[in-house]
Amino acid sequence: MSPDAVVAGHVCLDIIPALPRGARFVPGQMIEIGGTGFAAGGAVANTGVALHRLGVAVCLVGRVGADRYGDLLRHILAGHAAHLAEALHRDDTAATAHTYILSVPGADRMLVHHAGSNAAFRDTDVSDALLAAARALHLGYPPTLEQMYRDDGAGTVALLTRARAAGVTTSVDMTQIDLAGRTGAADWPTILRRFLPLTDLFLPSVGEMLQLLDPARWRRLATQGDVATLLPARDVAALGRALLAMGPALVMLKCGARGLYLCSASAARLAAAGHAAPRDAAAWADRELWVPAYPADLVGTNGAGDAAIAGFLMGVLRGFGLSRSLDAAVAVGACSVEHADAIAGVSGWPAIMQRKAAGWRRDWRDPPGPAWRRDDAAGWWCGPRDGAPLASHTDDEELIP
Ligand SMILES: Nc1ncnc2c1ncn2[C@@H]1O[C@H](COP(=O)(O)OP(=O)(O)OP(=O)(O)O)[C@@H](O)[C@H]1O
Ligand SMILES: [Mg+2]
Repeated sequence: MSPDAVVAGHVCLDIIPALPRGARFVPGQMIEIGGTGFAAGGAVANTGVALHRLGVAVCLVGRVGADRYGDLLRHILAGHAAHLAEALHRDDTAATAHTYILSVPGADRMLVHHAGSNAAFRDTDVSDALLAAARALHLGYPPTLEQMYRDDGAGTVALLTRARAAGVTTSVDMTQIDLAGRTGAADWPTILRRFLPLTDLFLPSVGEMLQLLDPARWRRLATQGDVATLLPARDVAALGRALLAMGPALVMLKCGARGLYLCSASAARLAAAGHAAPRDAAAWADRELWVPAYPADLVGTNGAGDAAIAGFLMGVLRGFGLSRSLDAAVAVGACSVEHADAIAGVSGWPAIMQRKAAGWRRDWRDPPGPAWRRDDAAGWWCGPRDGAPLASHTDDEELIP
């Protein structure tokens, strides 16, 4: 099968015990559980399987250990479609990455994670043959891939350079780092400056970006609650523009139930975004937009970002316009949060279109800021800088006040 998209990077086995309401972890005591669920997790499994369900021919590339957890992970992926497990590398030197998701009903979840084989993922794991065949490459969670972020991101730069040389459209998603750990010691502003010019579509969540660019403010906000909810829209926009100035064609900052913020570079930069570059680059250029989320029956937000990215990439790969591609992102993200795992709620694009036809409407709420203009036809708010060349001028305001 010739893939349209390659999804590469972080993959792991999620182990999910069904904990009873009110469960507390007390040394010396036992907790009876209702059973244990196993799921394929991480960006590669979540975005990859969601893309597959949305009808995109996709190839998944990641590292899995030569162990039982690795066998189970392959088995779960092959259960979605046989070819999804075929391009995973077998790593004899490390255990399969795994995460215990300890979710007591009614309380925030705890994650117990072993990085394992993901630490060994390297740029050459994505072969030249794959890059020659695909139109798009999505790299998931470089902060969890030690060989990709060390040496100021040399591995990430190497992979994206090869992809762009092959004409492939590149996208990258990030994840939170441990400020006190190994990932926190890396020079993230430098790493971003090195790989963002090689990234066409940069698709992180807002909290992760604040953590990398303004850790002090991130710490203050994170102690108060959810950063994606608390950060004012003008600061989200400032963060987006600062990232756009580092060289990608487009920055999408996922903001949870608030939806997402998008800003884009010039038509020339968008037209240079590889095989899947938008045909109507001018309509995608110099935009500053806020896309409201769809209302959803919230069960779990785990992997919502990965699912939203799959929706957006499906739109890009199918040649949808900007409005429809962003609509696919927030619609698929909302479907994802209605189930405990990332992909159970993502049944396919026709089902989502049916839901919209049956009256599923955006959750508009208040405008993101005073100067934002609502555009009902497009389904978004236009920001104060919409239509201006965003990436080419440097702001005189501070990045984050
Ligand atoms: N509670 C919600 N209700 C409706 N839509 C949601 C909700 N949470 C998230 N979404 C949709 O999914 C998108 C992605 O979610 P989010 O911003 O949480 O990504 P993320 O932080 O990358 O998540 P993760 O890293 O857990 O995958 C949002 O932009 C929004 O459109
Ligand atoms: Mg995310």
